[in-house]
Amino acid sequence: MIKVLIVDDIASTRENLQKLLAFEDDIEVVGMASDGREGIEAARTLSPHVVLMDVNMPGMDGIQATEALALEVPHCPVVIMSVQGERDYLRRAMQSGAREFLVKPFSGDELIASIRRVHDLELKKGTYVRVVSAAEGNGAAPAGPARRSVAAVHAIMAGKGGVGKSLLAVNLAAALRQQTGLRVCLVDLDLQFGDVGVLLNLQHTKTIAELVENVGALDPEFVNAVLAEGPEGLRVLQAPFSPELGDLVRADHVRAILDVLRREFDHIVVDTATQLSEATLEVVDMADTVCVVGALTIPAIKDTKLLLKMLESLRVEQERIVVVVNRHDAHADYNRARVEEHLRMPVLLEVPSDPRGIGTSIHRALPIVLSNPEAEFSRRVGELVRRIEPGVAGAAPVGDAKRAGPPARRFGFRREGR
Ligand SMILES: Nc1ncnc2c1ncn2[C@@H]1O[C@H](COP(=O)(O)OP(=O)(O)OP(=O)(O)O)[C@@H](O)[C@H]1O
Ligand SMILES: [Mg+2]
Repeated sequence: MIKVLIVDDIASTRENLQKLLAFEDDIEVVGMASDGREGIEAARTLSPHVVLMDVNMPGMDGIQATEALALEVPHCPVVIMSVQGERDYLRRAMQSGAREFLVKPFSGDELIASIRRVHDLELKKGTYVRVVSAAEGNGAAPAGPARRSVAAVHAIMAGKGGVGKSLLAVNLAAALRQQTGLRVCLVDLDLQFGDVGVLLNLQHTKTIAELVENVGALDPEFVNAVLAEGPEGLRVLQAPFSPELGDLVRADHVRAILDVLRREFDHIVVDTATQLSEATLEVVDMADTVCVVGALTIPAIKDTKLLLKMLESLRVEQERIVVVVNRHDAHADYNRARVEEHLRMPVLLEVPSDPRGIGTSIHRALPIVLSNPEAEFSRRVGELVRRIEPGVAGAAPVGDAKRAGPPARRFGFRREGR
């Protein structure tokens, strides 16, 4: 029997759905709830195979409830039911983790087919959605965030150059990988002057240019061979080694490449160029998190504001935007409150200036989150990790990063040798 939970605030809708499903021999309605919070409680106690979730409900709505369910009761697939058939709703529903989207009014046949499809897929996946953690593989009890069927994309952007995008991207990716044990890919989309390869002292000779050349044949094996090995199992797609090759990377290439990567990873962190390009906008469109990095100087705040305005005009929802102020304690013309007032956006995170610590980490080509997880900079990056993966516990990263990281290497100007 497929056990179904119905979550809808309108009693007559709940009853109609129940009646429709009562005729099916293989489906049983095990519970009903009238809002998102109740639905989560019911899912927890009843362990249904499929949850039918309305979107518009008072209190916690269906999208929020679906997001919360993904964290609190994983492996409980949700079918969203809504009168809103617009693209935006559909996208939000899918981002929240819903498996199907039914536009009201729908027929009994459509509903039943949808429930069976979702349940069948769940059975086929079997152990696919499994819990992994940094401890997995060495016998320790793993209890970490679940793998995703499609990776979440996190774009690191800034209105001004040199504010710390690449540094933050490298550290965020490394921290996500180390603290969650999930599959993380760092993509350098600063296509002309990408720094990620240098920051990690990668010796790999393949870059995004290889993928663009073969964009018609992007199978996972080929993509895997193009990715470099970063520290702690982080995978990296490097930017081309010369600016003119960067010009050949088009927006549709970026989408095709990210589409393949999204199926192979749980998180994709994308470092971007300051100059807005079609490629960057493509990533913004796909991104779950748009991390806007700013600084506390008047020009940086002006440019951050311009970037936020542009994101607004592109209809990037505020929930996707995270404002980070880097070096908040250095040469500050502003403080956090004034910045928030000016930007009309909350600042999620303030990252301190740490010239010594960062300098050493760049010299060793090892992200500071790995070489010194106790540093304030690393702890702040950890906060960003927990915004992205709320299930990650504790302030200090798992394991002994100093020991687990690759041996210290001298900073080398890799590109000059090619
Ligand atoms: N919090 C910090 N403490 C100390 N140094 C920092 C900090 N943030 C950034 N830096 C330094 O500032 C410089 C610029 O950083 P980074 O290259 O990450 O900026 P960017 O925004 O990627 O620049 P670009 O626009 O050129 O891509 C680097 O040398 C980096 O080490
Ligand atoms: Mg950069």
